[in-house]
Amino acid sequence: MTDRLTSDTFGIDRAATLLREGALVAMPTETVYGLGADARNSDAVANIYAAKGRPSFNPLIVHVSDIEMARRFVVWSDTAQTLADAFWPGALTLVLPLKPDHGISSLVTAGLTTLAVRMPDHPVALAVLSRAGIPIAAPSANLSGRISPTTANHVLNGLDGKIAAVLDNGPCPVGVESTIVGLIETPTLLRPGGVAQEDLETVLKHPVEAPEPDTITAPGQLASHYAPTAQVRLNAAQAEDHEVMLGFGEIGGDLNLSETGDLIEAASNLFDHLHKLDETQKPIAVAPIPNTGLGQAINDRLKRAAAPKNG
Ligand code: TXA
Ligand code: MG
Repeated sequence: MTDRLTSDTFGIDRAATLLREGALVAMPTETVYGLGADARNSDAVANIYAAKGRPSFNPLIVHVSDIEMARRFVVWSDTAQTLADAFWPGALTLVLPLKPDHGISSLVTAGLTTLAVRMPDHPVALAVLSRAGIPIAAPSANLSGRISPTTANHVLNGLDGKIAAVLDNGPCPVGVESTIVGLIETPTLLRPGGVAQEDLETVLKHPVEAPEPDTITAPGQLASHYAPTAQVRLNAAQAEDHEVMLGFGEIGGDLNLSETGDLIEAASNLFDHLHKLDETQKPIAVAPIPNTGLGQAINDRLKRAAAPKNG
């Protein structure tokens, strides 16, 4: 029912055409697979919420082909330019004030006066964006509340039959979603992700405000987001008899995020390993992960995976 498109010229053309026609297409980005729709088309965007079963108060990130396209929709600033120069294309989403007559569907912004924009660092996503020539709203291409997809198979496991197509380009290199920075007042870290807070601070030359670990800041960041079906126990030294173990570094397990303790490798393995361990239908014990660099994003996603599920 859902077409699996090869990410060659034909597949990219087909994806661009489908998106322009208002259909839903999942596509690879460097972070995770996104579920794309024309951000100006409210019917198309409504279908994203329907396909994901996502609560409609959660605003979406708009993907752009370049800074030019972003500037059609948001009030650009010097800080935005500095961060885009350093990190675009890449795993950094900027939240900026919407321009008047922006043309973006209010289902994308969930009625906010700000917009989240990102230029992805992935040849297939960039080719689709420039071919289609439209802003593409794309949340992660998973059912709401489930683990984010880093392969086309993960996408089809949740969304087969509910979307027109998925562009298959193998695994996503970064493996966790983009870092979200609010540029409405002073730069604020709204979600840790694929760009480390330390790297943002180096470029900005000052500390970035980060939310308290236990507050939910980005609207719609439900505590139990990214949850596997199974229970998750964090900071485990070893598995108990009934558990499977997700290891890191010297603390081994059924699967290891990175035997050498490399946080970049760990991020890129995170969701795929969680998907695999979840299939055992046993509770998952997870080794401690240092909270530096990409460890901050990994711990954020793990904490959400471990949070009690409230529907
Ligand atoms: O890496 C990524 O960012 C992936 C790929 C597909 O690009 N996309 C992604 O989108 O993670 P999604 O929809 O799963 O996450 C969007 C997040 C939400 O937590 C939402 O709260 C936040 O972005 N967000 C969107 N618009 C916002 C706004 N105007 N102000 C604050 N947060 C916003
Ligand atoms: Mg998501």
